[in-house]
Amino acid sequence: MSLGERSERLMERRNRAIPRGVSHATPVFADRAEGVYIWDVEGRRYIDFAGGIGVQNLGHRPHFVLDAVQAQLERFIHTSFNVAPYELYIELAEKLAALAPGAFAKKTLLVNSGAEAVENAVKIARSYTKRSAIVAFTYGFHGRTLLTMTLTGKTRPYRAGFGPMAPEVYHIPYPYPYRDPLGYDPQFGVLAANRLLELFDTEVPAEQVAAVIVEPVAGEGGFIVPPPEFLPRLREITQEHGILLIADEIQTGFGRTGRLFAVEHNQVVPDLMVLAKSLAAGFPLSAVVGRAEVMDAPQVGGLGGTYAGNPVAVAAALSVVNYFLEHPEVLEQARHLGQVINARFQEFSKRYDIVGEARGLGPMAALELVESKASRRPSTAHADLVAQYAYEHGLILMRAGMANHVIRTLMPIIMTDDVAEDALMILEDAIRYARDQARR
Ligand SMILES: Cc1ncc(COP(=O)(O)O)c(C=O)c1O
Repeated sequence: MSLGERSERLMERRNRAIPRGVSHATPVFADRAEGVYIWDVEGRRYIDFAGGIGVQNLGHRPHFVLDAVQAQLERFIHTSFNVAPYELYIELAEKLAALAPGAFAKKTLLVNSGAEAVENAVKIARSYTKRSAIVAFTYGFHGRTLLTMTLTGKTRPYRAGFGPMAPEVYHIPYPYPYRDPLGYDPQFGVLAANRLLELFDTEVPAEQVAAVIVEPVAGEGGFIVPPPEFLPRLREITQEHGILLIADEIQTGFGRTGRLFAVEHNQVVPDLMVLAKSLAAGFPLSAVVGRAEVMDAPQVGGLGGTYAGNPVAVAAALSVVNYFLEHPEVLEQARHLGQVINARFQEFSKRYDIVGEARGLGPMAALELVESKASRRPSTAHADLVAQYAYEHGLILMRAGMANHVIRTLMPIIMTDDVAEDALMILEDAIRYARDQARR
């Protein structure tokens, strides 16, 4: 189905002017957005289950962000913190340090994108430990720059054809209960973390490892929720060997899982945490927050960048952080939304053979689509049909997983039950449609 003439014309221009490597989850050309909705250039309204890839946890254009940005635009747009510093950056650094887990002194570095924050966390970890190796996980995603694509554990589309990769990066398997032969072993979380010990014996000695970087829930990899024992055991092993633990909370942070940060579910305290996405409600801003003595390891001038910590983006982020501080009920609302979504997803999983597994942590929920429950074979075809049916009926969805076969939810956490219910009805119709189409 064509979305309309204006959309078609834009798609033609897009195809002529923009490389094919830049993908989009839907052919919906945005005209405006407000709260939990996006309107396209044809005037059609969509419920937004993607939130600009997990950026709009507090909805599109919240009034407090608009006010903060407007006020900052009236003062100054850019001086560069590396030239003429400003209080806003300091205030955000203080607040993020206070909010991040860990009862120790912390410092904060601000940069522009998620990938840039990860790059800096690795630089800082290497500088502090004077070690070079970094351990990451299969199914992980950390960005598209050379180092972050090397850390990423998903070949297509992120690594294939872009080598050689950066040196001194090692991967171990991320615990994927649905797909690992040990997945339902009660010890799986511990066993999965212990694979790090095996890596020290087989690939790289512990004393050469600067850091382990991990997503508390694997995002791009398929919204894979590890067993609760996994992160605490990883923390134990890294601590024993003087290895820093970097939590990549870029997608899981700012309420996505029903807590401000996902590591709070397991009381794990990382040495460094990387943040981006919903931190600044759509403005490009990211942060590395961590132990003060670690953050202070790089020499003067070793960290920063022209736009790093841009005042307008920082003003937006401060308004977001203040909102979470002043409205703790927003996280309760997120947990409630998570319950509503996960309960329905479990029903879908019981009702439809093409839903292999429903899983989630709070409103970070997923449906893994398969050819059949018996085969467990990932089904990109079903996911294509679900996503297409959804946007044709007013719901914007995103996918994840190795075969792009996992439907994931990144809707604003402020979504009301009524809107969530409308979206879930469209989604259930989409699943039924995909199942019936495939049967033909
Ligand atoms: C967990 C995680 N880390 C890093 C990144 C990279 O962030 P950015 O796209 O802002 O560079 C992403 C983006 O999706 C992410 O989900």
